[in-house]
Amino acid sequence: MSTQQRQGSGRASGRAPAARDAERTPALPPNAAFWLAPAAVAAVIGVVAGLQLTGAAAPRALSDPGAVVRWGLPVAQMTTYLSMAVVIGCLLFAATLVPAFADRRRPRSRAVPDRDAEHPAFRRLMTAAAAGGVVWTLAAIVVTVLTYSDVSGSRLSAAPAFTAQLAYFVTTLGTGQAWLTITVIAALVSTLALGVRNITGLALTTLLALGATIPLSLIGHAASAGDHEGATSSLGLHLVGISLWVGGIGALAVAAPALGALTGVTLRRFSALAGVAYVLVFASGVVNAAIRLGDWGALGSPYGLLVVAKTVATVVLGVFGFAHRRWVIPRFDSGRLGARRVMSQLVVGEIVVMAATMGLGTALSRSPTPVPEDLTPDASPAYLLSGYDLPPELTPGRMLTEWRWDWLWIAVALLAAVGYLRGVWVLHRRGDAVPVLRTISWLVGCLALVYVTSGGLAVYGRVMFSIHMVDHMALTMVVPLFLVVGAPITLALRALRPRTDGTRGPREWILRVVHSRYSALITHPVVAAVLFGGSLLVFYYTPLFGFALTEHVGHELMNLHFLLTGYLFVLVLIGIDPLPRRPVYPLRLVLLLATMAFHAFFGVTLMSSTTLLEPDYFGNLGRPWGLSPIADQQLGGAFAWGIGEIPTLVVAIGVAVMWSRADTRESRRRDRAADRNNEAELSAYNDMFARLAEGGAPAQPGRPGDSPTIRPTGGPSTPAAGRASTATRPASGTDPDDPAKETS
Ligand code: HEM
Repeated sequence: MSTQQRQGSGRASGRAPAARDAERTPALPPNAAFWLAPAAVAAVIGVVAGLQLTGAAAPRALSDPGAVVRWGLPVAQMTTYLSMAVVIGCLLFAATLVPAFADRRRPRSRAVPDRDAEHPAFRRLMTAAAAGGVVWTLAAIVVTVLTYSDVSGSRLSAAPAFTAQLAYFVTTLGTGQAWLTITVIAALVSTLALGVRNITGLALTTLLALGATIPLSLIGHAASAGDHEGATSSLGLHLVGISLWVGGIGALAVAAPALGALTGVTLRRFSALAGVAYVLVFASGVVNAAIRLGDWGALGSPYGLLVVAKTVATVVLGVFGFAHRRWVIPRFDSGRLGARRVMSQLVVGEIVVMAATMGLGTALSRSPTPVPEDLTPDASPAYLLSGYDLPPELTPGRMLTEWRWDWLWIAVALLAAVGYLRGVWVLHRRGDAVPVLRTISWLVGCLALVYVTSGGLAVYGRVMFSIHMVDHMALTMVVPLFLVVGAPITLALRALRPRTDGTRGPREWILRVVHSRYSALITHPVVAAVLFGGSLLVFYYTPLFGFALTEHVGHELMNLHFLLTGYLFVLVLIGIDPLPRRPVYPLRLVLLLATMAFHAFFGVTLMSSTTLLEPDYFGNLGRPWGLSPIADQQLGGAFAWGIGEIPTLVVAIGVAVMWSRADTRESRRRDRAADRNNEAELSAYNDMFARLAEGGAPAQPGRPGDSPTIRPTGGPSTPAAGRASTATRPASGTDPDDPAKETS
């Protein structure tokens, strides 16, 4: 009796024989060629049609690399996108949606991977991930060689000069380095997909594969003129959305023949993710198109027409998604017949339209854009250094009116706000309440994040050190303060339903991360304080600052680092979300004081500095208004000191309030205990003194009622109580709405 049969009969014994038969009938024929072949044809048709429309593959008058390169490169590029997406989709399914083992009760050893016990759908996904990884690696190598031929205009050849130039291209030039990075990531991922079976390892491999979208978003049209950072971020989000959505549908097609009774639940779980990815792809595509088109009048251009075609295709794909939700999933839930057939038809149809759209997207990325890409010869120094012209002179009003959209953080803030409100809604519907203040605080935190990364602070922070410092302080102290008070983990653990089928859903992953050794390390109060304070020195007195000022990736990594270190520090000090360890209140205040002192020291150093940080940047911006660069830097020092202390003070007040509340709670608890056990503690205490008075030996510590050093008031802050607790203690007796207690 095969595993599938055992599943069928074991689980659905209550279902009608027809339903059970249907359940055993695989949704899609096991042979992937069934959907791969039409997908490949559709993709090629899409890319060829797109290139025909824009003429991007037409012979060139000068340095024509030849037809093989002009047509081969877009096809290889599209193969790279498709295989990358399928690999990411399969790994994601294996790490979050499909159980690794068919029979969770079967004992397993950590040492010897028990491949026979693997769930057949899991095994199919891992095979497809490994095979897709090989295709991805080979396609990326082909793209690298053809791209060199394309940009250099030299025809493909085996001549040593060609290979020498190619080697120079991949090691020295941005586009070459990006494709080399993508190739290395692809090779690594396919190797890992062959060997890794540990779910955490699979999740990390998925993240590594997703990492390839970063170099991909830095090349092509996004790398050239016109809102470079907006184009890069929106393209990056576009590629992430596409990989999750297209990859997810591909993974569904791979796994469906072996999912059996899990088909419905897997489809429902994926549908939630697909919905988010759909919105991400749509919105980022429109943003990127707006940057490339310049104005909507350009929609009539060949490039514009391709954008329209893609938009129509995306709407059609939306209808597919809607059909899944509206018809297929309810059919599975109600066990009605035909669900499988409808699903397979929809999935194959969806894959074909998606593949064609991928083809169009690739053609788009190779076609000339209405907004010229070339750098204007009279580009300003500020433009050459930061990628943007100087904003108008700084005024208080312009702090509110000058914006430069950072689509990455806008997407993060939107997802965070919508996710949080959804959690509140789930609890509300369940009859549970979430303190309104927390929700407001979280939403204010999300809004502040958008302002700090896209508003006046971000725009002027690029050309004035002083404003950069205010921006930094806001990102690392003010935004986290609001976010931490929102207690998102507590909400997520309350709102998310635990999985019971052995898969690791969002709730399981959150618990795993919160209780991981890594989390124990970075949330250790001293580590969090050093990361928070020490980053200032490491960042401003090393080339990292220059990297963040001139490179988009550097800038986003800076934002991420400051936000995370600030969040961790504030979480450790005043957060109620679950943590592996919580520092005692005195230590929290000591850490705060130390950080305040450090900020003051850092600020004063800058205020008295006469050496310009990043002189090649701040010294060459050519800013005709405001303070001189050095005076502006000294003002930045004053801001670091002054502004940095305000949120620190707020946190200190927060710690003091929490401390007094904890004390009150503790004494109430002791009073309740004393009421319950009739002051046993007090009488033991008095007995001890009576015995001492009679010259007898005191009672042994730890036995009930005999903690002799506790005064009748029951306050915890006596030296004896101190002995009972170390500087940080395991988080117990935390706030009753701390769902992490389930795991401790
Ligand atoms: C509203 C719908 C969409 C719009 C407006 C849109 C727009 C764009 C734009 C403007 C680009 C950048 C092209 C360039 O570099 O000049 C792009 C790239 C791309 N799009 Fe879309 N897109 C949409 C939906 C989709 C969908 C649904 C898919 C796939 C199923 C897709 C796949 C791609 C691919 C593969 C690229 C190439 C990425 C690269 O150059 O690295 N797009 N899209």
